[in-house]
Amino acid sequence: MNNPVLEAIFTRRSVREYKDEPVDYQLLEKILEAGSWAPSGLNNQPWRFAIVTDEDLKSQFEPLTKYARIIKGAKALLPIFIDKEVMYNEVKDHQAIGACIQNMLLAAHSLGLGAVWLGEILKSAEQVRTLLQLPDNLELMAVIALGYPARKDQKSRRHPLDELIVFKN
Ligand SMILES: Cc1cc2nc3c(=O)[nH]c(=O)nc-3n(C[C@H](O)[C@H](O)[C@H](O)COP(=O)(O)O)c2cc1C
Repeated sequence: MNNPVLEAIFTRRSVREYKDEPVDYQLLEKILEAGSWAPSGLNNQPWRFAIVTDEDLKSQFEPLTKYARIIKGAKALLPIFIDKEVMYNEVKDHQAIGACIQNMLLAAHSLGLGAVWLGEILKSAEQVRTLLQLPDNLELMAVIALGYPARKDQKSRRHPLDELIVFKN
């Protein structure tokens, strides 16, 4: 099957180990742009992005999560925030953020990069916001860690489709 979108969806894996090779800033912007093209209710586009490549600043994220090792190896961090001032519906705005993050992960994968969605760091959401000196209308939703993959043998599993379909006729 020659379907690049399905191919990317099925082959993307969370990548937690990276080569010691910098990631071009333009690629990071392309990933953010892909995120910004996610659907959102009323097209309110509640996502906001940060780009962290400076090693000193990046290292200050390490104590904020038990996944310090991933952050240490990553070449860039992309923290994603929701702008509470443009939200109109709690559930729908958070769904839009999820769509945005998935777009970003797929974009990273399609560009030959490896990325992982870090959620555990949300326990330190306030510290991340303060570290980046951002206003309190921005709430951290996730941090994407990325770089060129050190390995490409990640395996993952999904429940069989039959177990997921709860109704059909
Ligand atoms: C909301 C959310 C939070 C996650 N948080 C973390 C995290 O803190 N650390 C981590 O290593 N992976 C995290 N992941 C990645 C998942 O572990 C991963 O997507 C899952 O195991 C499936 O593997 P795959 O992405 O390779 O298909 C998170 C994923 C999501 C969607």
